[in-house]
Amino acid sequence: MGAFKFKFTGGTQPISVEDWQKRAIRKLPDLALSYFEGGADDLTTMRENMSSFRAWRLRQRVLTGVSNPDMTATVANTQVSMPVALAPVGAMGLGHYTGDCAAARAAESCGTRMVLSTASSYNLEEVGEATQENHFFQLYPIGGRERIAKLLERARAAGFTALFVTVDVMTIGNREGERRWNFVLPWTVTPSRALHLLPHWKWIYRTLKHKRIASSHYLEMAKEVAQEEQDAAGGLGKGIADAVVSKETMAKLMMGELNWDDIAFIRDNWKGPLYIKGILDPDDAEQAVDRIGADGVVVSNHGGRQLDRSLASIDALSPIVERIGDRAEVYLDGGVRRGTDVITALCLGARGVFIGRPFLYGLISEGESGVRSVLEIFREEIKRDLILMGCPSIAVLDRSWLIRADQP
Ligand SMILES: Cc1cc2nc3c(=O)[nH]c(=O)nc-3n(C[C@H](O)[C@H](O)[C@H](O)COP(=O)(O)O)c2cc1C
Repeated sequence: MGAFKFKFTGGTQPISVEDWQKRAIRKLPDLALSYFEGGADDLTTMRENMSSFRAWRLRQRVLTGVSNPDMTATVANTQVSMPVALAPVGAMGLGHYTGDCAAARAAESCGTRMVLSTASSYNLEEVGEATQENHFFQLYPIGGRERIAKLLERARAAGFTALFVTVDVMTIGNREGERRWNFVLPWTVTPSRALHLLPHWKWIYRTLKHKRIASSHYLEMAKEVAQEEQDAAGGLGKGIADAVVSKETMAKLMMGELNWDDIAFIRDNWKGPLYIKGILDPDDAEQAVDRIGADGVVVSNHGGRQLDRSLASIDALSPIVERIGDRAEVYLDGGVRRGTDVITALCLGARGVFIGRPFLYGLISEGESGVRSVLEIFREEIKRDLILMGCPSIAVLDRSWLIRADQP
């Protein structure tokens, strides 16, 4: 029938992270969206994570003969095809039932890796089996030393090679979007809530069918710590009831009382590369490296979900690189939406970046192929930007490639 084929796709294929975001917003009811899209208080930090990148301009050199820049990088001792990996995200199954397994498979098929969350929807063993490559594990250092040691052993046995210890959840940030939906379960079904959910029956059906809302390791701990609270969980259906962690249980599983000695215990129990995630202050970065012996840090404010008015990640980066960059690896996450953001972070001394919401938009919209597409968008953008900058390789990026936007 000739060259013209009509294909109804309900819109054009997304070509940017923002396109994928729009698609994801259409897919999910606000109730679930409030979890993925939300931030703390007035969303100041969440938004500044993105806008602060724009304080920087990239140097453009011409006629340098660059057509195929080298984008390979090393993240957590692992060779990757680009300096972008997937950040740990809890309860991914709420967005798409294929969750962590799909995201990890997409990452490895793009030559990169995922950090599996303690609060993942599929557990260590399931993700280990579903993937070809070794990925990384993120630990919430909660539940006591015995449980932590067991979890680390499981991670090692399942083939996870690097550990990211998240330290910025002393208590849960004030995410008012989630609170308005009473995101902390059990939910009660009111008539208005039922009406809201009705148009999303497909999502409800899949979510209840696959029962992948629950955050696996986190829930196991919660169950052990407060068995009786699970008994009280009722309501909407078994799939959702299984995910129930009450506010009281969650409070018991926060890390407000932890100190650096607890992290030293983890260092002693993990032989592979170890990174502290959630660092914004150079003094803390120094503690992580010099006191604990961490291999590096992830400069992160949890995507603006914890302390609102904390520094945007890109603004926190330089002082930390200056303090520890000579002896430790520094990574960044938060607000990375464009290839130019990745390049800016690298120029300021990050070895690589992690993306959170961007890959979730792909996952929510389409599962594994959506995540792959988001990663390929980043790859294309970084490559195109490097060519336009006349830069032969990410290895040569440094502060000399940046100009402050407010400078003449
Ligand atoms: C829905 C959601 C869940 C998250 N869950 C976790 C988690 O379980 N563990 C963790 O260390 N960070 C978690 N984070 C933070 C991310 O790892 C990362 O720091 C953040 O998403 C980066 O910002 P970005 O979304 O702007 O890319 C979560 C973020 C989101 C958006």
